[in-house]
Amino acid sequence: MSGTARDVTQTDLHRRLLETLDALFGVHPGYRPVHAKGIVCEGSFTAADEARDLSRAPHLQGGRVPVTVRFSDFTGLPDIPDTDPNANPRGMAVRFHLPDGGETDLVAHSYDGFPARTVEEFLGLLQALAASGPGAASPSPVEEFAATHPAARRFLEAAKAPPASFATESYFSADAFRFVNREGTARHGRYRIHPAGEERHLDVGEAATRGPNYLFEELRERLRRGPAEFRVMVQLAAPGDPIDDASATWPADRPQVRLGTLSVERPSDADERQLLFDPARLVDGIEPSGDPLIPARSRIYAVSYRRRQR
Ligand code: HEM
Repeated sequence: MSGTARDVTQTDLHRRLLETLDALFGVHPGYRPVHAKGIVCEGSFTAADEARDLSRAPHLQGGRVPVTVRFSDFTGLPDIPDTDPNANPRGMAVRFHLPDGGETDLVAHSYDGFPARTVEEFLGLLQALAASGPGAASPSPVEEFAATHPAARRFLEAAKAPPASFATESYFSADAFRFVNREGTARHGRYRIHPAGEERHLDVGEAATRGPNYLFEELRERLRRGPAEFRVMVQLAAPGDPIDDASATWPADRPQVRLGTLSVERPSDADERQLLFDPARLVDGIEPSGDPLIPARSRIYAVSYRRRQR
């Protein structure tokens, strides 16, 4: 079966994106091309009472469901030191195992927003970064890109202090979703996942005392003492807020609904290579918002997953 011209263009775009990630970080067979260094854990999610007013999704009706969670450092470097500024943003991918045997995923990172609105724009940023290695003439391609793309500039200039722990970091879905409750009422919102305890980052002096794998060692040690808990929230859009642009954050005073408590309980034996977290793996009661990144990410992650099985 032959694809349409649009499919061919999209496939080409996705291929170029993965090639550009390979150019930036090198090829590391069996690893993800970004968020390569990770740890998989098991735990549970307990829905808050108010969650069911927002969505009829099965895991938001008050019960408790098992979850699989993968924390990660950014970049495609499987051995990136946890203290490297490029290890930001950290990733947190969550799979909810639903009572009927189904699954739904939530893929978030520790930056509130995204540097690009579309895959094309993100590819432009990655290509500019790849062309801006040491020795690039000034202004470098990435400096020129940032000068004309404010969301990319904000992302590049964001504070990069490493978290004290994966459990003291906040994570954001960037993409908005459409939450629909039993009455059919729909609200758009973005996930925010906050530590139940204090949020804490390291200052330069503290970071200098940490080893290259301190986040992974700290998490294993922490889980031996007890679970790491997070508050899962949804920030609601007000009328007129952009719901299809992950690069445009909403004002901080938008109301938030508490979805529940996520408890990370123990490291998992699961083979991370076999796991594919997909932001478009949704469930009745949670729908895509029209943000172009959601279907695009779904397709790119699937190609990336197939590549990692070879
Ligand atoms: C144009 C937009 C994006 C592109 C092209 C992209 C690309 C990718 C790719 C290729 C992977 C590897 C997937 C795999 O092999 O399993 C990945 C993983 C990941 N991405 Fe994205 N991404 C985009 C947007 C985002 C956004 C908006 C977020 C966060 C809100 C995000 C967070 C993550 C995380 C946390 C992972 C690791 C998931 C895991 O642990 O398996 N990405 N991304």
